[in-house]
Amino acid sequence: MSKSVLVVGSGGREHALAWKLSQSNDVSKVYVAPGNGGTTLVAENVDISFTDVEGLLNFAREEQIDLTVIGQEAASEAGLVDAFNDAGLSIFGPTKAATLIESSKVFSKDLMSEQNIPTAQYKTFSDATKAFEYIKTRSLPIVIKADGLATGKGVIIPETLEQAEKAIQDIMIDKIFGEAGGSVVVEDFLKGQEVSMHALTDGTNSVIFPPSQDHKQVFDGDKGPNTGGMGVIAPLDWVKPEQISKIQEKVVSPALEGLKKKNSPFIGCLYPGLMLDGQDVNVIEFNARFGDPEAEVYMRLLDCDLYKILSDCAAGNLNPESVKWRDGYAATVVLASPGYPGDYPKGLPITGLEEAEKLDDIVVFHAGTALKDGNFVTAGGRVLNVTATGDTLQNALDKAYEAVKLINFEGMHYRTDIGQRV
Ligand code: AMP
Ligand code: GLY
Repeated sequence: MSKSVLVVGSGGREHALAWKLSQSNDVSKVYVAPGNGGTTLVAENVDISFTDVEGLLNFAREEQIDLTVIGQEAASEAGLVDAFNDAGLSIFGPTKAATLIESSKVFSKDLMSEQNIPTAQYKTFSDATKAFEYIKTRSLPIVIKADGLATGKGVIIPETLEQAEKAIQDIMIDKIFGEAGGSVVVEDFLKGQEVSMHALTDGTNSVIFPPSQDHKQVFDGDKGPNTGGMGVIAPLDWVKPEQISKIQEKVVSPALEGLKKKNSPFIGCLYPGLMLDGQDVNVIEFNARFGDPEAEVYMRLLDCDLYKILSDCAAGNLNPESVKWRDGYAATVVLASPGYPGDYPKGLPITGLEEAEKLDDIVVFHAGTALKDGNFVTAGGRVLNVTATGDTLQNALDKAYEAVKLINFEGMHYRTDIGQRV
């Protein structure tokens, strides 16, 4: 069979999805819109923005795309799935209404409370003075989240009242996260180990992936501001099967049921970010998409045809048994631009990619890269995801760091302690 697929987004996640889709026996052509420098290695880039619903719809019609796969949540929030559904085109991802589970923290927290999904105690505010009054009644540290989408960066965790007051001022009045900060969720601080879970679902059936762990802070030892994610490991041996079943029962199933009750069934990848503390499981947030860089490790471990399982989800007939995993572990280390997650320069030449990929079990998924005169240059904050597999977690990490040593661009920085937390 010769199916054509369109992946929507431009990060390392989309490179990983396109890479895996290109290995499917059913797939003869993969497009990525808009893609990045690296996606050209496995697919054809299409110069359409991921929020250009009309543009993507026209492209899918003209090229007779068999399946469109959303990577980037902004596409779902823009209503891409709704438009494709209306046009009768097959698409993997949630509708705009179902995406609210990620795109509105207020919606998401209210859904958790309606469905008795364990999560931190919270209140929502659109008035800065009231928010601060509430904070004074809670213990510190406290967590302040801008309501809207802020690419994983819209959260401040003040440890003193002075910091909390400044955070409220920054988010709600000075709008450092833009309009996302018009209202905020203030919630209690959860301690424990942060774990990413992914569930693939066709709206009714769902299957849960092995647990993974991201590293959000920019510096070693979990120091510095939050980023989109600096490195991931999977699976996590210390998360026991009973806990995974508990997550399915107490988190994933009730969230899917809750959305169904609201007449917005969720199709796609539901990704709860969780805090595990002993036997306690609490939801930090829901995402309506694959994680980035979680997708990079999952695509290395997935041992079945990605096209088949995603198109089955889109068609409403996912067979959970068909999702299979290879033995072993995967790790990804993110190489970031100087200054990230703040401002950073672009256009810096990258060296050593070919040498790195010659090493055993290494795939480098590109995020913020572009092609300039046939060479890769930096074009974003998170630049590359050096991804390795191994028989043990340590083995995967050793291989990833060995490959990292071969790659360079001016001012490149990365964490040296991925996978060392537990
Ligand atoms: P979010 O955008 O909700 O994923 O939050 C970003 C990051 O802030 C999370 O990955 C956590 O590291 C941290 N965080 C968010 N909420 C809490 C919480 N209630 N307790 C502790 N840490 C949190
Ligand atoms: N890895 C964090 C995220 O995708 O939100």
